[in-house]
Amino acid sequence: MKIYEGIKLNKDVNTAHLYLQLYKALKELIIEGQLKQGDRLPPIRKMAVLLDVNNVTVVSAYRILEKEGLVYKKIGSGTYISYDSLQKNTTESIGINTIKSTTSPNFLMDQGHIHIEENTINFASATPSTDLFPVEDFKEVLNEVLERDKGDAFGYQEGQGYYPLRKTLKEYISYYGVYTDVNNIQIISGAQQGIDIIAKGLVNYGDYVMIESPSYTGAMAVFQSRGAKIIDIPLKEDGLDLESLEKKILTYKPKFLYLMPNFQNPTGISYTLEKKEKIIAIAKKHNLLIVEDDYLSDLNFYGENNATLKSLDHNELVIYIKSFSKIFMPGLRLGFLVAPKNLYANLLMAKHSTDISTSGLLQRALQLYLEKGIWQQHIKYMEHQYRERFEEMVESINNYMPKEVTYRVPKGGVNFWLKLPSGFSTKELYDRAIKENIAFAPGNLFFLHNSNTPYFRLSIAAVDKNQIHQGIKKLGKIIEIYINKNSKDHNKTNEYTPIL
Ligand SMILES: Cc1ncc(COP(=O)(O)O)c(C=O)c1O
Repeated sequence: MKIYEGIKLNKDVNTAHLYLQLYKALKELIIEGQLKQGDRLPPIRKMAVLLDVNNVTVVSAYRILEKEGLVYKKIGSGTYISYDSLQKNTTESIGINTIKSTTSPNFLMDQGHIHIEENTINFASATPSTDLFPVEDFKEVLNEVLERDKGDAFGYQEGQGYYPLRKTLKEYISYYGVYTDVNNIQIISGAQQGIDIIAKGLVNYGDYVMIESPSYTGAMAVFQSRGAKIIDIPLKEDGLDLESLEKKILTYKPKFLYLMPNFQNPTGISYTLEKKEKIIAIAKKHNLLIVEDDYLSDLNFYGENNATLKSLDHNELVIYIKSFSKIFMPGLRLGFLVAPKNLYANLLMAKHSTDISTSGLLQRALQLYLEKGIWQQHIKYMEHQYRERFEEMVESINNYMPKEVTYRVPKGGVNFWLKLPSGFSTKELYDRAIKENIAFAPGNLFFLHNSNTPYFRLSIAAVDKNQIHQGIKKLGKIIEIYINKNSKDHNKTNEYTPIL
């Protein structure tokens, strides 16, 4: 009982509800590993007496912990810490859905938001800077659509998407090795909505869903919101750890596996072709559905084979999601997915109940934009812009980052995944950097349970060449001071650790 005596609840009426305070305190003990798998929480009445609160407070706190999968109830026996809650600070962990701790010093960041001041150099955001947007060209196609279609452009569009756009996209994705029928294409209002309607259409409360570790925060948030239990599979340099994948497929029988095989977010890792083929073979063997999020494969600077999983799938096992946000304009909220036929009805229903249809006007404008061939010029322009930034980033990291910071140069995309020496925290580094107007995305945001990881993500999407140069120079100094001061304090060793 000693461990619980340390829980201090603030009974001041102006503070958070007591049950929330108790839930957070217990969660902290679980995440920290002070409460271990199989430990039994005190019975409700006993805990209530110990903390001098009423029974309902304890019941409510236990209930939230149970909902998050951190504890489970055994009828007639009590409430126990679940196995998964023990797997802290390891990318190998089997993550049960959780929300980020609200007790950390940086609440906003833990919620996946980062506050950017006007003069901040923003390596945090993977959203393209607005000066790259082809506004004039788009204005022209918009006007042409309005002239041509008049009021029709503002009617309800069919839920599956504007037919001529789907026809054009059918051609467009053949360049990505994806050959499909127009009827298998579903227009979506951005990839985020694609992930959401897939989860809405296919996942029931308590189902297992598998993701890479680390993974895209927006996808984790969707799966959590649907009450899915998330299983994370560690990433290796060449893609998923296949041994872990197969083991966990057998154990959990997940609804699907969510992957970003090209320029993965946040690590920038591109799966090798061999690994992609093995994953498709594993999916076939276990009849496993894969959700492939292709948010960025277009930015392939070194021309290496970056085949989509969908192009390797001959058994209708891959749902392919394509976003236009990173390579075009995110505010358009346009993307599409290609789904196996047997899932189509479920997904269309989910889409319909979400927003009836994606904006007809914008779909028509995109269709014309693609048809006129302006798209190809734009992609070349974006590639050129991003490539310049990319090369500046590599050079600046090599010149200015202390040698203890390790990373692997990605083959394209916009994300760089760096690692401080073991034992150093990117949350702490974030606090130091933001004071100097440098923002980046601390690695803990991308893991299910890793509250204190040495990884961090730098993105080149929202910064120009000059900002990259200045920003990395400054960040390099901040890191040097952080590492040196703490090395003296803690006598840490600066060994080389390969990334992931
Ligand atoms: C991997 C990944 N998928 C999906 C999205 C969401 O994209 P969209 O703007 O198309 O909804 C993002 C946005 O950053 C992303 O990084």
